[in-house]
Amino acid sequence: MTGVVDFLYIVAAILFIVGLKMLGRAETARRGNLVSAVGMLLAIGATLAIGGLSFEWILAGAVMGSLIGAVAAYAVKMTAMPEMVGLFNGFGGLASLLVGWAEYHKWIALGQAPARPVFTAIAIFLTVLIGGVTFSGSMVAFLKLAEWINGKPLLFRGQQIVNGLLLVGLAAGGVFFAVRPELGYPLLLPVVAGSLILGVLSVIPIGGADMPVVISLLNSYSGLAACAAGFVISNTLLIVAGALVGASGIILTRIMCKAMNRSLANVLFSGFGSGAGGAAGASYQGEAKAVSAEDAYYLLEAARSVGFVPGYGMAVAQAQHAVRELGQLLEANGAEVRYCIHPVAGRMPGHMNVLLAEANVPYEQLVEPGDVNPTMETVDVAMVIGANDVVNPAAKEDPKSPLYGMPIIEVDRARTCIVLKRSLKPGFAGVDNPLFFKENTRMLFGDAKQTVSALVAEFKES
Ligand code: TAP
Repeated sequence: MTGVVDFLYIVAAILFIVGLKMLGRAETARRGNLVSAVGMLLAIGATLAIGGLSFEWILAGAVMGSLIGAVAAYAVKMTAMPEMVGLFNGFGGLASLLVGWAEYHKWIALGQAPARPVFTAIAIFLTVLIGGVTFSGSMVAFLKLAEWINGKPLLFRGQQIVNGLLLVGLAAGGVFFAVRPELGYPLLLPVVAGSLILGVLSVIPIGGADMPVVISLLNSYSGLAACAAGFVISNTLLIVAGALVGASGIILTRIMCKAMNRSLANVLFSGFGSGAGGAAGASYQGEAKAVSAEDAYYLLEAARSVGFVPGYGMAVAQAQHAVRELGQLLEANGAEVRYCIHPVAGRMPGHMNVLLAEANVPYEQLVEPGDVNPTMETVDVAMVIGANDVVNPAAKEDPKSPLYGMPIIEVDRARTCIVLKRSLKPGFAGVDNPLFFKENTRMLFGDAKQTVSALVAEFKES
């Protein structure tokens, strides 16, 4: 039986890896998700087959979990995905913490000592510690993103000292786990409490715009907690699956930091957006040239090359279908149309890709900043649709700007740039945008769905 289970575990692990690889490309992402889900089904089936388990509870849990998951998948808006992922990470961390706790209880209260006490004790400590930090940190991240609490960074005097003392206390707890594991609840409970407090203290100094990075980091932590739990219960597949989540989470975190030109330490400790050394930046003066949909139509009608640059505002306005329709009309008019996607446009990784895929925009029309920037001078019209920070030229022109150094889509170098948004207000980073006052920029004010639809109507009427 063990041989069969091990074989199924290997198949499941391969399915996880193949699924993960497929998630890296928009064309294969859906199937990748399915492949990984089949791997998970196989893993659960094989684990249940090991025996000695009470099926009623497992079935009840599976049904309840599936129902909640299905309802959430349908009900949660695309823009609320980061907080949803935050919640899931948190529950993953809590599950690992409880596994560690249960194994420790079996050992201490029921006298079922493990074969390798020191190794298991350290694994339990790490499971509880990382699981606890992940759970409470994710809950704070969820509350901030859902705007149930203030999303601004919360910094207080002596914060680093408190964190340092807490870390020393937890490290001492780890040593006690290794040398005196029989101490029982007087040892476990302070470690649980300390890890929960550490999770809260780690996330409160981080501001709203950085929260998706933190979510990705916590996702990595939840994987590490599961991996540690795998060592506690000697389950190889849990170790593999946890390591995969841990590694992919940290890779994604790195990609996001790089796209914002920030180090992970800067994201975690700088309190970006708190106002202290803050994200306010310079205020740019000038005259923004507003155009009507009709004026913008004339510019587009004459264009041979158009680059759409979508951002968070397109998601808010749900303008992706109208944008695709406009793209098709422009192509029918003889223009080459591309959709330029910045890696941190929107509020979650792949946000723009998901929306444009939903609107059936062909994948081959999507381009990255590195592909489009070198050819920007040949673009007749760059259409910025509800994007702001990711096209802010202050990132390359103004060394004092908090965005300075962040790679952007250089729409200011296009022949004409039309910016679709409702006002001159800054984007998520709270930094003013000199793009609005450039000679070749035209502002088309209004809700993106309405303005793009007005442009579509102009094309259809002509
Ligand atoms: P933002 O800089 O947040 O700007 C979005 C703009 O959309 C706003 O300035 C807003 O201007 C406009 N807008 C809102 N609703 C609109 C509507 N209904 N119609 C038209 N326009 C509307 O967006 P971005 O350029 O996509 O940049 C993303 C930001 O999030 C960056 O700062 C990035 O670092 C941060 N971030 C993203 C991620 C990921 S993974 N995507 C992760 C971490 C941080 P008005 O109010 O004037 O309309």
